Amino acid sequence: IKHRNIYDAIGGSDAIDRIVTLFYERVGRHPDLIPIFPDDLTETARKQRLFLTQFFGGPRLYEEDRGHPMLRRRHLPFPITPTRRDAWLHCMEEALLEANIQEPYHTVIIEKLTMTANHMMNTPD
Ligand code: HEM
Repeated sequence: IKHRNIYDAIGGSDAIDRIVTLFYERVGRHPDLIPIFPDDLTETARKQRLFLTQFFGGPRLYEEDRGHPMLRRRHLPFPITPTRRDAWLHCMEEALLEANIQEPYHTVIIEKLTMTANHMMNTPD
């Protein structure tokens, strides 16, 4: 079996587009997340597409556009509580299901994103 990265295995940019679109639809109507996100999520979604592309092993699009991710630092202006981490991961779980991302990739992606989301928390509930 040929070894592929997650990005190629799930279907490349089409899959990333589906995941990110479905994810921000949910973020935009989640009561715990609305207060810290901008009303217009277009630019947020654009950056997330670039980030997840490289995070899943695809082209280094985020770094070309934004430089080193420094994600924890970029999140410090926003109070990220355990409740908000759970909400973020819940939106992502639902987006992966609706985007029809199959196992084992679904579980691998959730595990990677859970570790990163834990690292983003910066405020108690
Ligand atoms: C940006 C919230 C976790 C990746 C943002 C922004 C907020 C936010 C409010 C700013 C949006 C904007 O101004 O456009 C959260 C919350 C999280 C979380 C509540 C819960 C734990 C994550 C995780 C990742 C991630 C796990 C990556 C896997 C990003 C990226 C940006 C961003 C790439 C754009 C950074 C930039 O270039 O400006 N996030 N985030 N976030 N988030 Fe998160």
